[in-house]
Amino acid sequence: MSQQDDDLDFETTGHEWDGIKEYNKPLPRWWLYTFYLTIIWGIGYSIAYPAWPGISGATAGVLGFSTRGEVAADIAAVEEANAAINAKLEATELTQISADADLQDFAQNAGAAVFRTWCAQCHGSGAAGAEGYPNLLDDDWLWGGDIEAIHETVTVGIRNTENDDARYSEMPAFGRDELLEEAQITQVVNYVMSLSGEAQDASLVADGAVVFEENCAACHAEDGTGDRSQGAPNLADAIWLYGGDYDALMDTVNNARFGVMPAWGKRLSEAEIRAVSAYVHGLGGGEVLTD
Ligand code: HEC
Ligand code: HEC
Repeated sequence: MSQQDDDLDFETTGHEWDGIKEYNKPLPRWWLYTFYLTIIWGIGYSIAYPAWPGISGATAGVLGFSTRGEVAADIAAVEEANAAINAKLEATELTQISADADLQDFAQNAGAAVFRTWCAQCHGSGAAGAEGYPNLLDDDWLWGGDIEAIHETVTVGIRNTENDDARYSEMPAFGRDELLEEAQITQVVNYVMSLSGEAQDASLVADGAVVFEENCAACHAEDGTGDRSQGAPNLADAIWLYGGDYDALMDTVNNARFGVMPAWGKRLSEAEIRAVSAYVHGLGGGEVLTD
């Protein structure tokens, strides 16, 4: 109940605390109309745009707007803008990509993006690799470092079960499967250490060379420099995939390793595979194709 205060010109609500009275003044017009406007805006907005949550989704809104749709449209626009150059990338001989400056530039950039998304978790964001995951910056290649070999490796992968043509080879587990005596393994490991000039027990090297010749040379070559057709690493260059100290080498020869890389042929487009191959090839260790 409002009442007039005799001392004041204003209406009060009749509430009073310790002599302090509550005025009953109307809301300012500008405030009130702004308030009504926000309500109208709110109703209009929730009709036009996705708004009220339901059980399996929100009301769609009459404008049909969705952030997901926007992203899809953005992606489609980028793909359309790149369609011509992607088609060119797919049509160009792998070895000729680097001869076309624009194409090479595009492949390097697109390839770097593919690498960050799909390859960095194993090979490292800078491609320097980690134990069991080869460094792709150097010129020490397991399977081959020319652009065609890299393209093949990426497409089919290595020792995976998803692609029937995956690159494949299997080093025997000489200790676990009792193919060699423990003494022979110690000898051959000391011989392997001697190949890259590592300190080793010189008295075991001569016997180790015999064990190597009979058991290892078929894959790692007579001089230990490896064989790319089998992905058998060079053992003479002091670059190690699994470690070159005595314990790591004993572990490798006793149990073997079996590094696996997924196949990308079905997951990435041909243009993406070509781009990432050009990118890896351009990292520093890329080789010129020789027939
Ligand atoms: C799940 C881990 C993993 C992912 C992801 C992966 N790789 Fe590999 N990659 C490997 C392993 C392990 C090897 C070495 C296998 C072996 O011992 O031969 C390898 C080997 C390679 C080689 C051969 C190197 C050589 O010396 O011959 C290339 C090239 C390569 N990867 C490129 C890529 C590219 C490009 C991508 C991304 C599209 C990629 N990898 C994603 C694990 C991976
Ligand atoms: C059937 C072929 C084959 C034979 C035989 C073989 N290897 Fe291997 N070796 C490989 C392959 C393939 C790898 C690559 C490792 C993997 O499976 O990921 C490898 C890897 C290695 C590595 C690890 C190199 C690194 O960079 O870390 C060492 C060391 C090695 N072999 C030593 C030997 C020795 C010593 C013998 C003989 C007792 C031998 N290998 C016999 C195929 C072979």
